[in-house]
Amino acid sequence: MPSPSRPLLVTTALPYANGPLHLGHLLETIQADIWVRHLRLCERTVVFVCADDAHGTPIMLRAAQDQIPPEQLIASVQADHLADFSRFGIAFDHYHTTHSPENQALVLRFYEALKKGHHLVTRRIRQMYDPEAGLFLPDRYIRGTCPRCGALDQYGDNCEVCGASYSPGELISPRSSLSGKTPEMRETEHVFVRLEGFRDRLRRFVHEQADLDRGVAKKLDEWLGGELRDWDITRDQPYFGFPIPDRTGQFFYVWLDAPIGYLASFRAWTQTHPGTDFDESLKAGSPTELYHFLGKDIIYFHGLFWPALLSAVGFRLPSGLFVHGFLTVNGQKMSKSRGTFLTARDFAESHPPEALRYYFATKLGSGIEDLDLDLGDLQQRYNADLVGKFVNLAARSSPFLDSGTGPQLSSSLPDPDLYDRFRKSAGAISAAYEAREFSRALRTIMDLADQANQYFTACAPWSNRRENSERAREIATETLNLFRLLTGYLKPVLPELTGRIETWLGVTTARWGDLDQPLLGRSLPPYTPLLTRLAVPPATALSRPLSLDLNPTPAAGSPMNQTPDPAPTIDIHQFNQVNLKVARILSAEKVEGSDKLLRLRISLGDEERTVFAGIQTAYTPENLVGRLTVVVANLAPRKMRFGISEAMVLAASDGASGPFLLSPDSGAAPGMVVR
Ligand code: MSP
Ligand code: ZN
Repeated sequence: MPSPSRPLLVTTALPYANGPLHLGHLLETIQADIWVRHLRLCERTVVFVCADDAHGTPIMLRAAQDQIPPEQLIASVQADHLADFSRFGIAFDHYHTTHSPENQALVLRFYEALKKGHHLVTRRIRQMYDPEAGLFLPDRYIRGTCPRCGALDQYGDNCEVCGASYSPGELISPRSSLSGKTPEMRETEHVFVRLEGFRDRLRRFVHEQADLDRGVAKKLDEWLGGELRDWDITRDQPYFGFPIPDRTGQFFYVWLDAPIGYLASFRAWTQTHPGTDFDESLKAGSPTELYHFLGKDIIYFHGLFWPALLSAVGFRLPSGLFVHGFLTVNGQKMSKSRGTFLTARDFAESHPPEALRYYFATKLGSGIEDLDLDLGDLQQRYNADLVGKFVNLAARSSPFLDSGTGPQLSSSLPDPDLYDRFRKSAGAISAAYEAREFSRALRTIMDLADQANQYFTACAPWSNRRENSERAREIATETLNLFRLLTGYLKPVLPELTGRIETWLGVTTARWGDLDQPLLGRSLPPYTPLLTRLAVPPATALSRPLSLDLNPTPAAGSPMNQTPDPAPTIDIHQFNQVNLKVARILSAEKVEGSDKLLRLRISLGDEERTVFAGIQTAYTPENLVGRLTVVVANLAPRKMRFGISEAMVLAASDGASGPFLLSPDSGAAPGMVVR
């Protein structure tokens, strides 16, 4: 947790400049933005920066494919990213690009420091080269058969089926996924950072200095306990990046210049802010704290490589790494083919952007668990909480303020204790925001909104309004003041809505302290509705039906994506003929030549079997390994094009979503009979 009174530099991971922002990116930037906005309300000095990550082979290839120079691609993607961030209210102080002179100068400074500190070694390495495409292939562009388990069509660096990691040279019958050709091996000399030399420094970083989630610290500790491999920071031409000055035809690896891009963005910001000093802010021992928000997939880079680089130049190490989990959509990995890949723009076209901010905030804690987006749930929360509870306070109280000449607040509060109690909640809410426990902060706020509504209802200002309109005005004034406090508490999450409310009320809350005094005696412009309910069917992108093929037969099957006719009633004896059992999935892999089937090896306790299940659209194999499910164990073995299926896995679906595997409750074990 940041110590009070120190300035902070806060970053979010740099999005790649070859595609649009999606809701996963927004999960991270919204989380960071809420944290930063809250700190600013606490009068902390924060500089919040980010940039596009503009280098690397994928960007070079994408530009070539679009027949434009990479500079043009990254400029247009950056303009898109900026438009999206502004739609979602992400208030970066500066947004830079890694393809910038500031970054290049810093990268050279880091390189020199690494050289001077004897942290670099050179070594000849053999890499796969695609003679047709004319380039060295990154691991992701090589596919072949896993040397360990024999699974076909695996990436060059690791097997999605058995989890083995290896070097592309070990793949059996490798192919370039650019040209389909067999790559050849070519040898060049590369520069490596010797990570080993930083081991002690990194240990201290992990154990004593950084604000890290326990799980993250454990992971880093595990890595630090093992072999720390030298880190290859070189890429051979053609490459889109910064050339290495003393090495012809070679470039710095994108992951070297990307984190340095955080600092380049900060440097660019200091250049327009006189009185700020880049080196002073970053040198070891500087009071400025440095926090990075990032996803769990890039912990290694931020927890080991990046602190090593910083220590080599004598800069301060990160004060904390705030790692979040991955966003899933309706319980599944975001996927283009399933229509669950939602871009920032898709969402903004069908929903108010702040609905997403609110929804994420209600689900975010400080941990690294994955977080699921369910658009039905989002709509329900937005309507129930923001429209039904929060804004409702203003909607229902403002009519009772009217004096004939527009709304007029009374000159005192009828229940100052209630106001005080609400105001004193600021401490707990603030602490929750600071600890990134946003869901807790919002539960507290919505609980207060309930209490404010109860107050208004219990006072029933409508009951004798005619006789006592001053009393009704006081009740409405109290309610509106409670509403105004909640508006302040919601500011980090909902800057746009709370901004409109403040305009109406004629106040600005720049600091929590601005909430101490109630609003009394003033007149307000007439109330106009602040929010409207989200209408039923949300995002169309998610309603595309999936074509299901759960239990394919070799013969042409019936259309599967519709609900089957209801089956006739059966008696218990007929039911007993179906042998349902709990099974554990031991391994899972994609079936070559099928985009639906997974080949599963399952255990039924005392025996193992192979089953083909049409669930590839909904599950990635590695996520299945180890889980329990339910199978029909006595289905006659069926010969399929890919082998024999020796049981049937049960899954639920309605044609529009799914398939969803069934999971027995905890305590169930493989082989148990289901009845
Ligand atoms: N360019 C690198 C980061 C370099 S930082 C010096 C990169 N880019 S990315 O575009 O793939 O991801 C940017 C951030 O978004 C990362 O923190 C990543 O974890 C996060 N996410 C990408 N997909 C995500 C989800 N589905 N859910 C949540 N966060 C996700 O990695
Ligand atoms: Zn394998």
